[in-house]
Amino acid sequence: MGTIENAFQHQRLIFATSNLHKLHEVRSMAPAGVQIVGLADIGFAGEIPETQNTIEGNSLQKAAFLSKLYNTPCFAEDTGLIIDALNGEPGVYSARYAGEKASYADNTNKVLKKMESEINRTARFKTVITYYHNETYVQFTGITEGEIINTPQGNQGFGYDPIFIPSGSSKTYAEMTLEEKNRFSHRKKSFDSFANYLSNNSV
Ligand code: IMP
Repeated sequence: MGTIENAFQHQRLIFATSNLHKLHEVRSMAPAGVQIVGLADIGFAGEIPETQNTIEGNSLQKAAFLSKLYNTPCFAEDTGLIIDALNGEPGVYSARYAGEKASYADNTNKVLKKMESEINRTARFKTVITYYHNETYVQFTGITEGEIINTPQGNQGFGYDPIFIPSGSSKTYAEMTLEEKNRFSHRKKSFDSFANYLSNNSV
């Protein structure tokens, strides 16, 4: 078994996402020697279907769709913010919580409105990465516990970052540099498991 860096000499991984924030974050997590290839790099400008009702299902759907289309291994991820006081909402519907064309601010405001009189603020981000190759797949989950604050704070990051403080921090994700967010990040936890898997399996 080699080190992660050795295992990744000049490896290219296609990331099936049209979200440039996610692409930027994942590129910052990749071990040396790994090139994360985005959809623009392979000339794909269409829509990737995302019609399942679980985070795992959507993650698999995105990875399988692109892998089959290009006949090449690729990975995708799906992420949700799960809020206990809202019975797990927005969850799998995090991207379109306030409607199909909702902005990040619309979604965040909807959460804050629904949480106005809630005392229980506990929540977690969950990311599931799916690596799809040779008609089979493997999934990696990363979860970060935290809480929802009352007013947005910070302007880094994206999505619900301004209203989520991960446990162990006094700052929201949106008040952190990318390096700081990566110390807590749900996405980083799932990506690290994926990288570890790749370093131990020749796929
Ligand atoms: P999807 O995984 O592309 O379905 O997007 C889920 C939605 O969750 C995104 O549109 C964002 O609003 C939100 N989201 C995903 N990852 C993060 C994150 O790291 N921080 C804050 N919000 C996120």
